[in-house]
Order: sequence, then C-alpha cells, then structure tokens
Amino acid sequence: MSAVTPYNSSDPKKDQVAEMFDNIAFRYDLLNGILSFGTHKGWRRKCVKKLKALQPKQILDVATGTGDFAIACTKLNPVKIIGIDISEGMMKFGREKLKKLNLDKLIDLKSGDAETVDFPYNSFDAITVGFGVRNFENLEKGLKNLNRVLKPGGKIVILEFSYPRKFPIKQFYNFYFTYWTPFIGKLFSKDTRAYSYLQESVKAFPNNENFVSVMNKCDFKNPSFQTLSLGVAAIYEATK
Ligand SMILES: C[S@@+](CC[C@H](N)C(=O)[O-])C[C@H]1O[C@@H](n2cnc3c(N)ncnc32)[C@H](O)[C@@H]1O
Repeated sequence: MSAVTPYNSSDPKKDQVAEMFDNIAFRYDLLNGILSFGTHKGWRRKCVKKLKALQPKQILDVATGTGDFAIACTKLNPVKIIGIDISEGMMKFGREKLKKLNLDKLIDLKSGDAETVDFPYNSFDAITVGFGVRNFENLEKGLKNLNRVLKPGGKIVILEFSYPRKFPIKQFYNFYFTYWTPFIGKLFSKDTRAYSYLQESVKAFPNNENFVSVMNKCDFKNPSFQTLSLGVAAIYEATK
C-alpha cells in the first residue's frame, strides 16, 4: 500500500508534511480548538499526569509544533524541555507563545527530525509526542531513534488520534471527519488538502493494539494504551 501523504506528490512524505504544517501554522492553534471543541487540552493534561510519578527533569517533546505539549509539561517542574519539529513555520508561532508566557528559557524549540535527531544515547527522562507519530515518514525508524535517546527507566507518552469502532459513535465520527473537518479546515487554513490528509492518515495509521505491537517491535517495554473521548484519541505509554 502506498503511504498516505498530504499532497500526493512525488516528494518525500517528510517534505510534504513540513510544507503542509508551514502552510497551516498560522491557523493551527485556532483549528485545534474549534475541531476538538477544546478537548485537546484535556487530552494533553491526561498525558502529563502519566509522567507525574517519574518526576522527569529532562523532557523531549517530539513533533512539538506550536509547543502546546511542551507547555503542558511545565506542570512537571522539569529542569529543561526541548521541543523538536521539522516545520520551522509551526515553531515560529510556538516561540512567540513561549516568549509571551515567559517560558522561553525553560523550553527550547529546535529544528529536528524524530527519525534522525542525534542527541546522545540515554539523554531524556521522558519523551512526549502529540499527534506526531502518524506523520513520520518511517514510523519504526522514528520510534527506535526515540527509544535510543530515552534513558533506561524513562517513559514515553504518545497522544494520537484513533477511530471509534462502536455504533453510533463510529458513524458520527466518520461523518464528522470525512465532511465537517475538511470543510472547516479548508475555510480557515486555506490549505485544501491538510484536513483531508488528517482523516486519511488517521484511517491508515495502526490503531490501538496495532500501535502497541509496533512499540513492542521498537524495543519499548510494557507498552499499553488508553482510549479517550469514546475512542477519538488514544494515549500510548511505555518505558525503556
Ligand atoms: C499535528 S502537529 C502536532 C503539534 C503538537 N505536538 C500538538 O500536540 O499540538 C504534528 C507536528 O509533527 C511534526 N512532524 C512530523 N513529522 C516529524 C518528524 N519526523 N520529526 C519531527 N516532527 C515531525 C509536524 O511538522 C507538525 O508540526
């Protein structure tokens, strides 16, 4: 099966993903709020709670975008948070936000690709990824590299869209994601593909148990998942 990509062009998926997020960056936060009815903030808070007992000091937020997951992680009182992303456009808005919140010393947003980023082995106590893994060009390569930079005993928490399997939520979700999301996305972001790609990429991505299997394959210990909001999203967690 060919990979689902934003613009269906011959460019590598990574380039298309970076271009798409550069294009929609100016509307990303607004659309997140509208399309999830604000629930995305609660989902990230739930993820952060999963790291509370660990009290991580060094945190890596992968696919940080405009920095919302990194900002949510400040609740853990870490010493340093580094956010990496392949879209400079997204991080530009993130850096402005951090400055306004006076968090620009605690959180650094840097250009970096999950699949190739070359932090030393065992660098971070915790890694978070919000709505990022679905966009990786090579999922296993990305996860293995994140495992490499996580300290032994460290924890990864991944938040990703998922799809409900039960009637009538499944039917409502299909309608919402197939028609409403692309319509609103196009209207606000002016990118005709971005919010259709969202739905296509969620459908093509390994759901729940299947993603847990991928995490197992990438050497994470005890991976598990918890569905959120009737299965619309899921939190995956594992240790090293
Ligand atoms: C949907 S946004 C999520 C932003 C943020 N984590 C959040 O929770 O709102 C997905 C982000 O993943 C980034 N991304 C995709 N593939 C990546 C990769 N291989 N390495 C780093 N970032 C990546 C995109 O550039 C984009 O900013």
